[in-house]
Amino acid sequence: MKTLERLNESKLTVVIPTFNEVENIPLILRKIEDTLKNVNFEIIFVDDNSSDGSIEKIRELETEKRNISLLHRIGRRGLSGACIEGMLAAKSELVAIIDCDLQHDDTKLIDMLEKFDNQKDLDLVIGSRYNDTGKSKDGFNTIRKLGSEFAIFLTKKLLRIHTTDPMSGFFMVKKKSLLLIINKLQPNGFKILADIIACSNRNLKKWEITEVGYEFKKRTSGQSKMSLIVILEFLGLILSHLSRGLLSIRFILFLMVGLSGVLVQLLSTFLSLKLSLEPYIFAHSVGVFMAMTSNYYFNNLLTYKDRPLSGFSFFRGLFSFYLICSAGALANISTAKLFYDYTEIWVLSSLMGAILGAVWNFIFSSIFTWKVR
Ligand code: GDD
Ligand code: MN
Repeated sequence: MKTLERLNESKLTVVIPTFNEVENIPLILRKIEDTLKNVNFEIIFVDDNSSDGSIEKIRELETEKRNISLLHRIGRRGLSGACIEGMLAAKSELVAIIDCDLQHDDTKLIDMLEKFDNQKDLDLVIGSRYNDTGKSKDGFNTIRKLGSEFAIFLTKKLLRIHTTDPMSGFFMVKKKSLLLIINKLQPNGFKILADIIACSNRNLKKWEITEVGYEFKKRTSGQSKMSLIVILEFLGLILSHLSRGLLSIRFILFLMVGLSGVLVQLLSTFLSLKLSLEPYIFAHSVGVFMAMTSNYYFNNLLTYKDRPLSGFSFFRGLFSFYLICSAGALANISTAKLFYDYTEIWVLSSLMGAILGAVWNFIFSSIFTWKVR
């Protein structure tokens, strides 16, 4: 009965990603209920197993109110992935995403709905901090604001996006349109809107997109999850789109870590030689070993941050990573030799060896170390 009612009734699904937001949950709920008092809507909280009582709070609300549900994800982390799953679970024709921390202005949901009512072929409405009515003055400190503006500039240029705030986490989309591009979206990342717009640019029919200005407010409780990792993931998103989706964000992160490994290897070999480790091949092997170890550590932290290995599994994973990379080195060397025998161009041969080695390590460590599907 409950589901039937929902199917018939709700016009809008509001998806709220949450990670340790216990204090904000009742507040945002009250606000949205007030804003949408004349609209049939449902709310889906998507929580990545918060430890601060958010889950229990949402469960409580879920039993009290028929239009609230919890999508509880375990062993996974990530804002984009949470938004994608929430949007997929939405039962209404329109889906909005809004942060739980009250930084977005929920009253604008009404303006967004109006836009859809007035323009039947509209696909997406973006809540913008940077159009003529939007503001971001208190929400971020100066460094974060400059960073945000630079990232927006870069995204617009590189991905040919023409909206004023592609980094917004506040928007409303037509579910039917979203389903056309859902397979192209990447769950690894923080900037789901930039991904949606970039994917829609590759769609056959160009999307109708409009904006609603809002004032980005200060977060009053809980903490922001923005970090260096989030910035690297975002670079991954841009590069992934520049490769027209050929390279996934995950593979790009894996390559970034690999590049850092080259530095670690050079530095460790240098230090080993300084400490007079003889013969050279011994110092070189120390370098390779250190690079593999640091690559494992950083891949666990960054590339596979949605499924990090810890405790005993950390060491089991490390061991399997050593094995896979050793085999990868052999594959690398034999490919390079094969190319060199044919072409005698060392740069090309070396590059082919490196590419094959990287792909090998990525595929096998995905399967055996971090067990992705
Ligand atoms: N389920 C889940 N999993 N939720 C998450 C995760 C996660 O890994 N990380 C963050 N969230 C939730 C937070 O609980 C919050 O409700 C919302 O996503 C935004 O996270 P913040 O940590 O507050 O992000 P921010 O304030 O730095 O940036 C936000 O606002 C910007 C401006 O609109 C994000 O929405 C950005 O995408 C957005 O650009
Ligand atoms: Mn926030």
